[in-house]
Amino acid sequence: MARKKIALIGAGNIGGTLAHLAAQKELGDIVLFDVVEGVPQGKALDLAQCGPVEGFDASIVGTNDYKDIAGADVIIVTAGVPRKPGMSRDDLLGINLKVMKAVGEGIRDNAPNAFVICITNPLDAMVWALREFSGLPANKVVGMAGVLDSARFSTFLAWEFGVSIRDVNTFVLGGHGDTMVPVVEYSTVNGIPVPDLIKMGLSTKERMDEIVARTRNGGGEIVGLLKTGSAFYAPAASGIAMAEAYLNDQKRILPCAAFVSGEYGVSDLYVGVPVLIGAGGVEKVIEIEIDAEAKAGLQVSVDAVKELLVACKAIDGSLG
Ligand code: APR
Repeated sequence: MARKKIALIGAGNIGGTLAHLAAQKELGDIVLFDVVEGVPQGKALDLAQCGPVEGFDASIVGTNDYKDIAGADVIIVTAGVPRKPGMSRDDLLGINLKVMKAVGEGIRDNAPNAFVICITNPLDAMVWALREFSGLPANKVVGMAGVLDSARFSTFLAWEFGVSIRDVNTFVLGGHGDTMVPVVEYSTVNGIPVPDLIKMGLSTKERMDEIVARTRNGGGEIVGLLKTGSAFYAPAASGIAMAEAYLNDQKRILPCAAFVSGEYGVSDLYVGVPVLIGAGGVEKVIEIEIDAEAKAGLQVSVDAVKELLVACKAIDGSLG
């Protein structure tokens, strides 16, 4: 069987980390694309030279030509400009929308059968625009946010309870950003719901509110510390988990920005919901029952995404 091909559009901090992780896991051969000449080639060369040390078998090539992504099985998009301190994800809208147009057309013309994972922010709007510009089926274009958001939530909960991260399972819904909805009721430590742990006196409602707020601001906290860029290790690890779910037909249930058609009472946009990812791409949107508070939170998220889509359409008349 031929090796799988992974194309990474954007060879910046996340793109480079994605390439390294994909190579270490031998997910397939890797093409690193960027508009800046020399950067994808240089990173590819550096990463290829990790091979003998780490013992992985993967070809890693850098390019500035979309033709080299032809036949890719998975494409992960991080092309764009990351947030600077003080800049909201939404400030990025205009700049990154133009990038999505170029990337979407590059995918449409060269690798229309790929499973595409978008990471570029503002995520919920960019993944929608990427689907529009690429013309791919909605089940083959998905956004990475929830895996990262729930990883952040899990990290903080493991610290709070003083338990292994392996036993923590968290659940988030909604947009990537201030409107995300970490659902405490569906978050567990080895199956024990967090509200029960609070009843057992292991934490308090107030601490949980603080942890939820910290999760919502998870990206901003890191931007504030780094000062010259945004998070990249955990975003890359999250993107790879989604790629593996598709490549290995794992049928994983992961929170992703997925296209909804009536689920949760929402249609025609991308929003963070649990989905089943397997060889068919997004095979199913899982619709769980949520309480009134989570529903209201999800609505705030949806309204924020809708506003961004209106702004996208105003910037680029070819969109919907
Ligand atoms: N096509 C391809 N690559 C592009 C394009 C384009 N039109 N425009 C910019 N790029 C490249 C840049 O040259 C850069 O190498 O995208 C890369 C982005 O890398 P970084 O600036 O290091 O950003 P990174 O930290 O990887 O984040 C990428 O993910 O989390 C989001 O908000 C973040 O949108 C940002 C994206």
